[in-house]
Amino acid sequence: MNIILMGLPGAGKGTQASEIIKKYPIPHISTGDMFRAAIKNGTALGNEAKSFMDKGELVPDEVTIGIVKERLAEEDAKKGFLLDGFPRTVEQAEALNDILADAGRKIEAVINIEVQEEELMNRLTGRRICETCGTTYHLVFNPPKVEGICDIDGGKLYQREDDNPETVANRLSVNIKQTKPLLDFYRAQGVLKNIDGSRDIQDVTADVESILTNL
Ligand code: AP5
Ligand code: ZN
Repeated sequence: MNIILMGLPGAGKGTQASEIIKKYPIPHISTGDMFRAAIKNGTALGNEAKSFMDKGELVPDEVTIGIVKERLAEEDAKKGFLLDGFPRTVEQAEALNDILADAGRKIEAVINIEVQEEELMNRLTGRRICETCGTTYHLVFNPPKVEGICDIDGGKLYQREDDNPETVANRLSVNIKQTKPLLDFYRAQGVLKNIDGSRDIQDVTADVESILTNL
């Protein structure tokens, strides 16, 4: 199964991805997570990515395409993948099609989670993440049982550096610009599936699952 999860920052891509991988044995490939891991490890890639991420800008296409190409060549991705946050530009989408075509593969579904812009600012500024297991919470919409502590493993919750209001505003405007041509690209290929992401997390998950079951 070769799937892409699309949606503006805060639409719920990461939240839905963690549900999907509980049921389907495919790797969750998030370019944002890959960049954050590189930053944590202090690599050259991390240093380069950080300068763009801190401002809420996109990391240049050639860098991003390069890391995805390498990741898709790994053994676990050969049986399928769930891409989250990639592609984000038409150039990235075209490169992805070429990478897959070389291996005789193609995208089966692009699930686009739609949420109004006003809601996204609230979601992102209220997001908290477990430093141990990476589970995502929200102060209001999906709070942990004990404030600041992960329900699963007792890990401490932190806020992402780019989840401050100024950076979120720029992330939204940068991504909104890229979205329409990207949606047009996948609509033309007949693989685009839009879902209403403004409802409860469980309702959105039910829609995602029904798309995957019917593939
Ligand atoms: P990335 O890490 O991909 O961030 P993003 O796209 O901004 O998306 P988020 O992870 O912020 O949101 P999400 O949709 O996963 O939402 P979540 O499920 O957490 O990218 C970060 C940066 O890396 C980019 O700015 C860029 O610099 C760089 N980058 C990454 N990929 C790139 C690429 N391809 N090209 C170039 N640069 C790239 O949910 C958000 C919150 O809402 C949570 O608190 C959650 O609990 C809550 N929530 C989720 N669903 C619901 C719901 N249904 N109802 C109520 N609350 C909900
Ligand atoms: Zn945890």
